[in-house]
Amino acid sequence: MSRVALVTGGSRGIGAAISTALKDAGYTVAATYAGNDEKAAAFTAETGIKTYKWDVGSYEDCAAGIAKVEADLGPVEVLVNNAGITRDAPFHKMSPTQWKEVMDTNLSGVFNMTHPIWPGMRERKFGRIVTISSINGQKGQFAQVNYAAAKAGDIGFTKALAQEGARAGITVNVVAPGYINTEMMATIPEKVMDQIVAGIPVGRLGEAAEIARTVVFLASDDAGFITGSTISANGGQYML
Ligand SMILES: NC(=O)c1ccc[n+]([C@@H]2O[C@H](COP(=O)([O-])OP(=O)(O)OC[C@H]3O[C@@H](n4cnc5c(N)ncnc54)[C@H](OP(=O)(O)O)[C@@H]3O)[C@@H](O)[C@H]2O)c1
Repeated sequence: MSRVALVTGGSRGIGAAISTALKDAGYTVAATYAGNDEKAAAFTAETGIKTYKWDVGSYEDCAAGIAKVEADLGPVEVLVNNAGITRDAPFHKMSPTQWKEVMDTNLSGVFNMTHPIWPGMRERKFGRIVTISSINGQKGQFAQVNYAAAKAGDIGFTKALAQEGARAGITVNVVAPGYINTEMMATIPEKVMDQIVAGIPVGRLGEAAEIARTVVFLASDDAGFITGSTISANGGQYML
Protein backbone atom coordinates (compact mmCIF):
# COMPACT_ATOMS: atom_id res chain seq x y z
CA MET A 1 0.00 0.00 0.00
CA SER A 2 1.32 3.40 -0.88
CA ARG A 3 1.80 6.02 1.82
CA VAL A 4 -0.71 8.84 2.09
CA ALA A 5 0.64 12.38 1.75
CA LEU A 6 -1.39 15.49 2.53
CA VAL A 7 -0.26 18.80 1.01
CA THR A 8 -1.88 22.02 2.20
CA GLY A 9 -2.29 24.63 -0.52
CA GLY A 10 -1.50 21.74 -2.84
CA SER A 11 -3.72 22.78 -5.73
CA ARG A 12 -1.56 25.49 -7.27
CA GLY A 13 1.88 27.12 -7.23
CA ILE A 14 4.64 25.37 -5.32
CA GLY A 15 2.09 23.16 -3.57
CA ALA A 16 0.81 21.79 -6.88
CA ALA A 17 4.37 20.87 -7.87
CA ILE A 18 4.83 19.14 -4.49
CA SER A 19 1.55 17.21 -4.83
CA THR A 20 2.46 16.07 -8.34
CA ALA A 21 6.01 15.09 -7.42
CA LEU A 22 4.79 13.05 -4.44
CA LYS A 23 2.23 11.32 -6.66
CA ASP A 24 4.96 10.55 -9.22
CA ALA A 25 7.07 9.12 -6.37
CA GLY A 26 4.27 6.66 -5.56
CA TYR A 27 2.34 8.38 -2.75
CA THR A 28 -1.43 8.60 -2.56
CA VAL A 29 -1.84 12.37 -2.40
CA ALA A 30 -4.54 14.67 -1.04
CA ALA A 31 -4.23 18.40 -1.70
CA THR A 32 -6.07 21.11 0.20
CA TYR A 33 -6.98 24.63 -0.84
CA ALA A 34 -8.77 27.64 0.63
CA GLY A 35 -11.33 28.88 -1.88
CA ASN A 36 -10.24 28.80 -5.51
CA ASP A 37 -12.63 26.01 -6.62
CA GLU A 38 -11.90 26.52 -10.30
CA LYS A 39 -8.13 25.98 -9.94
CA ALA A 40 -8.67 23.01 -7.62
CA ALA A 41 -11.11 21.33 -10.03
CA ALA A 42 -8.73 21.90 -12.95
CA PHE A 43 -5.85 20.47 -10.89
CA THR A 44 -7.85 17.34 -10.00
CA ALA A 45 -8.94 16.89 -13.62
CA GLU A 46 -5.36 17.18 -14.83
CA THR A 47 -3.61 15.06 -12.18
CA GLY A 48 -6.26 12.80 -10.64
CA ILE A 49 -5.21 14.13 -7.19
CA LYS A 50 -8.16 14.60 -4.83
CA THR A 51 -8.62 18.13 -3.49
CA TYR A 52 -10.30 19.21 -0.26
CA LYS A 53 -11.37 22.70 0.75
CA TRP A 54 -10.87 24.12 4.22
CA ASP A 55 -9.15 27.01 5.99
CA VAL A 56 -5.93 25.92 7.72
CA GLY A 57 -6.50 28.83 10.11
CA SER A 58 -9.35 26.94 11.79
CA TYR A 59 -8.38 24.11 14.15
CA GLU A 60 -11.86 22.57 13.98
CA ASP A 61 -11.91 22.64 10.17
CA CYS A 62 -8.45 21.05 10.04
CA ALA A 63 -9.47 18.26 12.43
CA ALA A 64 -12.66 17.57 10.45
CA GLY A 65 -10.91 17.82 7.07
CA ILE A 66 -8.09 15.48 8.11
CA ALA A 67 -10.65 12.96 9.41
CA LYS A 68 -12.35 13.05 5.99
CA VAL A 69 -9.05 12.58 4.12
CA GLU A 70 -8.13 9.66 6.39
CA ALA A 71 -11.56 8.06 5.92
CA ASP A 72 -11.15 8.38 2.13
CA LEU A 73 -7.49 7.44 1.71
CA GLY A 74 -6.05 6.06 4.98
CA PRO A 75 -3.79 7.49 7.70
CA VAL A 76 -1.69 10.49 6.74
CA GLU A 77 1.99 9.54 6.95
CA VAL A 78 3.45 12.59 5.18
CA LEU A 79 2.22 16.10 5.94
CA VAL A 80 3.44 19.04 3.89
CA ASN A 81 2.49 22.39 5.42
CA ASN A 82 2.70 24.54 2.30
CA ALA A 83 -0.36 26.84 2.45
CA GLY A 84 0.76 30.42 2.85
CA ILE A 85 -0.28 33.99 2.16
CA THR A 86 1.24 37.47 2.14
CA ARG A 87 -0.38 40.69 3.36
CA ASP A 88 2.55 43.08 2.86
CA ALA A 89 2.77 46.60 4.28
CA PRO A 90 5.45 48.65 5.99
CA PHE A 91 5.09 48.16 9.74
CA HIS A 92 3.70 51.64 10.44
CA LYS A 93 0.89 50.91 7.98
CA MET A 94 0.35 47.23 8.86
CA SER A 95 -3.11 46.63 10.28
CA PRO A 96 -3.89 44.15 13.04
CA THR A 97 -5.95 42.29 10.41
CA GLN A 98 -2.93 41.96 8.09
CA TRP A 99 -0.89 40.67 11.04
CA LYS A 100 -3.58 38.21 12.16
CA GLU A 101 -4.40 36.79 8.72
CA VAL A 102 -0.77 35.95 8.04
CA MET A 103 -0.18 34.49 11.51
CA ASP A 104 -3.41 32.45 11.31
CA THR A 105 -2.51 30.87 7.97
CA ASN A 106 1.29 30.71 7.98
CA LEU A 107 1.96 29.82 11.63
CA SER A 108 -1.23 28.72 13.41
CA GLY A 109 -2.13 26.77 10.26
CA VAL A 110 0.96 24.65 10.82
CA PHE A 111 -0.10 23.89 14.40
CA ASN A 112 -3.72 23.27 13.35
CA MET A 113 -2.69 20.76 10.69
CA THR A 114 0.08 19.00 12.58
CA HIS A 115 -1.64 18.59 15.95
CA PRO A 116 -4.51 16.29 14.82
CA ILE A 117 -2.13 14.17 12.69
CA TRP A 118 0.58 13.80 15.35
CA PRO A 119 -1.03 11.13 17.63
CA GLY A 120 -1.47 8.71 14.70
CA MET A 121 2.12 9.20 13.59
CA ARG A 122 3.32 8.52 17.15
CA GLU A 123 1.24 5.35 17.37
CA ARG A 124 2.47 4.05 14.01
CA LYS A 125 6.06 5.08 14.82
CA PHE A 126 6.49 6.78 11.46
CA GLY A 127 5.86 10.23 10.09
CA ARG A 128 7.26 12.95 7.88
CA ILE A 129 6.36 16.59 8.43
CA VAL A 130 7.75 19.19 6.04
CA THR A 131 6.86 22.86 6.36
CA ILE A 132 7.49 25.41 3.64
CA SER A 133 8.98 28.51 5.25
CA SER A 134 10.78 31.23 3.27
CA ILE A 135 14.11 32.99 2.84
CA ASN A 136 12.28 36.01 4.30
CA GLY A 137 11.68 34.11 7.53
CA GLN A 138 15.45 33.62 7.75
CA LYS A 139 16.68 37.11 6.85
CA GLY A 140 13.63 39.39 7.27
CA GLN A 141 12.16 41.56 4.53
CA PHE A 142 10.93 45.13 4.27
CA ALA A 143 7.11 45.32 4.53
CA GLN A 144 6.90 41.70 5.71
CA VAL A 145 7.08 41.88 9.51
CA ASN A 146 4.02 39.63 9.69
CA TYR A 147 5.26 37.15 7.07
CA ALA A 148 8.85 37.03 8.36
CA ALA A 149 7.63 36.50 11.95
CA ALA A 150 5.32 33.66 10.93
CA LYS A 151 7.89 31.98 8.69
CA ALA A 152 10.59 32.27 11.38
CA GLY A 153 8.03 30.81 13.80
CA ASP A 154 7.68 27.79 11.51
CA ILE A 155 11.40 27.14 11.93
CA GLY A 156 11.18 27.30 15.75
CA PHE A 157 8.09 25.06 15.69
CA THR A 158 10.04 22.53 13.62
CA LYS A 159 13.15 22.50 15.82
CA ALA A 160 11.06 21.92 18.95
CA LEU A 161 8.74 19.30 17.50
CA ALA A 162 11.63 17.42 15.87
CA GLN A 163 12.94 16.72 19.38
CA GLU A 164 9.59 15.25 20.41
CA GLY A 165 9.23 13.12 17.28
CA ALA A 166 12.76 11.76 17.08
CA ARG A 167 12.24 8.59 19.15
CA ALA A 168 8.90 7.92 17.47
CA GLY A 169 10.33 7.75 13.96
CA ILE A 170 8.84 11.10 12.98
CA THR A 171 11.05 13.64 11.24
CA VAL A 172 10.10 17.32 11.17
CA ASN A 173 11.86 19.63 8.73
CA VAL A 174 11.60 22.93 6.91
CA VAL A 175 12.29 23.88 3.32
CA ALA A 176 12.99 27.60 2.96
CA PRO A 177 12.62 28.65 -0.68
CA GLY A 178 14.06 31.80 -2.13
CA TYR A 179 12.36 33.45 -5.09
CA ILE A 180 10.46 30.85 -7.09
CA ASN A 181 9.02 31.19 -10.57
CA THR A 182 5.29 31.10 -9.72
CA GLU A 183 2.20 33.04 -10.81
CA MET A 184 2.90 35.50 -8.00
CA MET A 185 6.27 36.41 -9.52
CA ALA A 186 4.73 36.96 -12.96
CA THR A 187 3.00 40.08 -11.61
CA ILE A 188 6.32 41.75 -10.65
CA PRO A 189 7.48 44.45 -13.12
CA GLU A 190 10.43 43.45 -15.34
CA LYS A 191 12.77 46.09 -13.85
CA VAL A 192 12.13 44.88 -10.30
CA MET A 193 12.53 41.30 -11.46
CA ASP A 194 15.93 42.12 -12.99
CA GLN A 195 17.04 43.51 -9.62
CA ILE A 196 15.81 40.41 -7.80
CA VAL A 197 17.60 38.07 -10.20
CA ALA A 198 20.80 40.15 -9.94
CA GLY A 199 20.83 39.34 -6.22
CA ILE A 200 20.64 35.57 -6.78
CA PRO A 201 24.12 34.05 -7.28
CA VAL A 202 22.90 31.27 -9.60
CA GLY A 203 21.39 34.01 -11.81
CA ARG A 204 17.81 32.81 -12.05
CA LEU A 205 14.62 32.20 -10.10
CA GLY A 206 14.02 28.77 -8.63
CA GLU A 207 11.48 26.39 -10.13
CA ALA A 208 8.59 24.95 -8.11
CA ALA A 209 9.73 21.48 -9.20
CA GLU A 210 13.07 22.06 -7.45
CA ILE A 211 11.28 22.73 -4.16
CA ALA A 212 9.09 19.70 -4.79
CA ARG A 213 12.08 17.39 -5.27
CA THR A 214 13.53 18.59 -1.96
CA VAL A 215 10.25 17.74 -0.23
CA VAL A 216 10.10 14.30 -1.87
CA PHE A 217 13.60 13.58 -0.54
CA LEU A 218 12.72 14.71 3.00
CA ALA A 219 9.61 12.51 2.88
CA SER A 220 11.58 9.43 1.86
CA ASP A 221 13.01 6.65 4.04
CA ASP A 222 16.45 7.81 2.90
CA ALA A 223 16.02 11.06 4.86
CA GLY A 224 15.39 9.34 8.22
CA PHE A 225 18.48 10.89 9.85
CA ILE A 226 17.49 14.45 8.89
CA THR A 227 15.26 16.13 11.44
CA GLY A 228 14.91 19.64 12.84
CA SER A 229 16.68 20.93 9.71
CA THR A 230 16.00 23.90 7.52
CA ILE A 231 17.00 23.25 3.92
CA SER A 232 17.55 26.55 2.12
CA ALA A 233 16.68 26.39 -1.59
CA ASN A 234 17.44 29.93 -2.69
CA GLY A 235 20.15 29.85 -5.37
CA GLY A 236 22.73 31.07 -2.87
CA GLN A 237 20.88 34.32 -2.15
CA TYR A 238 21.17 33.88 1.62
CA MET A 239 23.58 31.47 3.28
CA LEU A 240 23.30 30.49 6.93
N1 LIG B 1 6.40 31.82 -4.47
C1 LIG B 1 7.54 32.07 -3.88
O1 LIG B 1 8.49 32.61 -4.48
C2 LIG B 1 7.77 31.63 -2.45
C3 LIG B 1 9.02 31.88 -1.86
C4 LIG B 1 9.24 31.44 -0.54
C5 LIG B 1 8.24 30.78 0.14
N2 LIG B 1 7.03 30.56 -0.45
C6 LIG B 1 6.03 29.83 0.34
O2 LIG B 1 5.65 28.68 -0.40
C7 LIG B 1 4.28 28.37 -0.14
C8 LIG B 1 3.50 28.29 -1.45
O3 LIG B 1 3.62 29.56 -2.11
P1 LIG B 1 2.99 29.81 -3.57
O4 LIG B 1 3.64 31.03 -4.11
O5 LIG B 1 3.00 28.54 -4.34
O6 LIG B 1 1.48 30.20 -3.14
P2 LIG B 1 0.17 30.36 -4.06
O7 LIG B 1 0.48 30.11 -5.50
O8 LIG B 1 -0.43 31.66 -3.66
O9 LIG B 1 -0.77 29.16 -3.53
C9 LIG B 1 -1.14 29.14 -2.20
C10 LIG B 1 -1.95 27.88 -1.91
O10 LIG B 1 -2.29 27.91 -0.52
C11 LIG B 1 -3.70 27.85 -0.38
N3 LIG B 1 -4.10 28.60 0.79
C12 LIG B 1 -3.90 29.93 1.05
N4 LIG B 1 -4.43 30.26 2.24
C13 LIG B 1 -5.00 29.12 2.74
C14 LIG B 1 -5.73 28.83 3.92
N5 LIG B 1 -6.01 29.76 4.86
N6 LIG B 1 -6.19 27.55 4.08
C15 LIG B 1 -5.93 26.61 3.14
N7 LIG B 1 -5.23 26.83 2.04
C16 LIG B 1 -4.77 28.08 1.82
C17 LIG B 1 -4.24 28.42 -1.69
O11 LIG B 1 -5.59 28.00 -1.91
P3 LIG B 1 -6.52 28.74 -3.04
O12 LIG B 1 -5.99 28.27 -4.37
O13 LIG B 1 -7.88 28.28 -2.75
O14 LIG B 1 -6.31 30.22 -2.83
C18 LIG B 1 -3.24 27.82 -2.67
O15 LIG B 1 -3.57 26.45 -2.93
C19 LIG B 1 3.77 29.46 0.82
O16 LIG B 1 3.84 29.01 2.13
C20 LIG B 1 4.74 30.61 0.57
O17 LIG B 1 4.81 31.45 1.68
C21 LIG B 1 6.78 30.98 -1.73
